[in-house]
Amino acid sequence: MGTPQLVSDTGHRSKLFKAGLKRNKDNRHTCKYHLSNFNRAYRSWLIPYLKSRYYSEQFRPVLSFLYTDLNCNLNCHYCYSRGRKIPGMSMEMAQEAINFLHSHGCRVLAYMGGEPLVRKKFIIALTRYAVQKGFFVYLPTNGILMDEYFIDEIGKAGVSTINLAVDAVNGCKGLPKYFNRIKKQFEYLVQQEKKYGYITFFNINITKNNIQDVKELTEIAHGYGIATDYHINEPPQVRYKNYEHEPEGGWITEKEYQAVDELVDWLIEKNLKGYTMVNSIDHLKAIKQFIRHQLPAWPCQAGSLSMIIRLDGTFAPCFELYGDQQDWGSLKDGAKFDPAKLARQKEKCSPHCLSTCNYQVKHYTQSLLYLFQWVAKHAYSHFLGVS
Ligand SMILES: C[S@@+](CC[C@H](N)C(=O)[O-])C[C@H]1O[C@@H](n2cnc3c(N)ncnc32)[C@H](O)[C@@H]1O
Ligand code: SF4
Ligand code: SF4
Repeated sequence: MGTPQLVSDTGHRSKLFKAGLKRNKDNRHTCKYHLSNFNRAYRSWLIPYLKSRYYSEQFRPVLSFLYTDLNCNLNCHYCYSRGRKIPGMSMEMAQEAINFLHSHGCRVLAYMGGEPLVRKKFIIALTRYAVQKGFFVYLPTNGILMDEYFIDEIGKAGVSTINLAVDAVNGCKGLPKYFNRIKKQFEYLVQQEKKYGYITFFNINITKNNIQDVKELTEIAHGYGIATDYHINEPPQVRYKNYEHEPEGGWITEKEYQAVDELVDWLIEKNLKGYTMVNSIDHLKAIKQFIRHQLPAWPCQAGSLSMIIRLDGTFAPCFELYGDQQDWGSLKDGAKFDPAKLARQKEKCSPHCLSTCNYQVKHYTQSLLYLFQWVAKHAYSHFLGVS
């Protein structure tokens, strides 16, 4: 990656940052925006979580991922989805999935893929359906196929959060999601936040090739007044036929340990200064142990508080186990997340996994105070950093 300068340095990136800061100032959100986001997060996260604890003998996931497509328009080298060509989920099945989740008390729906925007009309219609049923809808996207028409339509449909994945400021081999490629649609997305009431995040995967870019993207996000969410690039836990990763997926090696440690310390410092990050400080700290293969087993709640629904309507605990062969249930047969089986699975997999999503679920559900912090993040992401 040829991006050695920080955004705050002189030159092109400095201009980007200043433009972002100006936009942040011009684009401050109103009390109404924050109140409505607080209310939405309260209804879809807090209440379902409290009910899931109260009815603890029932299966009541708080957050579910729905795979609408595995196809993708890009080819990030660390991802199993690159270049796939297989049919997506039908609307009938997607609605059935939403009905299933609704009947189990779940009110947070995150699309997953592949790239959801390979079928934009489908995503708009499905979002409308889910929002009408009271869901908080997360849309993760690489943003390349996003245009102004789509942004307005998904805003009107009632999307809650747009997770825009960017790994670099300018692209390079293996990292095709980069800021300058989507800057035009990104600025429109941020501009329309107030009108439609959604939240925008940058979703950044830390690989061995973009360590400096992560800092620059963090500054850009802060400048524009949006939050950030970090993954650490994870080699696949389950290798499966037809969905192979590139051998050179940007996995972190011993050579990068020190640079990653410094990056983590820098991110924690920014977090404490009030930069809004989805990641808890706990998760950021755990990155250092994870890259050294020293992560202790942790109480992952996948299969209990979260789950995924695959393209064919079958279930699995998490993204990382998409290719797992065990029977975890399906739309047709119902959920089969047996607690003893889950515990055996996690003993094996959790020391090798730092799932951003499930680590946050574990962190923010450990006490009511943390859960309120999570709700506050959704309401006030533009001016309050809580970790
Ligand atoms: C699979 S993508 C699907 C949605 C969309 N195409 C995108 O890129 O955000 C969801 C997220 O998974 C992350 N991801 C994919 N493969 C990963 C890996 N091997 N390690 C860590 N994160 C990964 C991506 O960076 C992205 O943020
Ligand atoms: S990470 Fe997202 S954009 Fe990149 S190949 Fe995978 S699905 Fe596509
Ligand atoms: S620890 Fe990771 S791989 Fe294992 S169930 Fe949890 S999220 Fe999935």
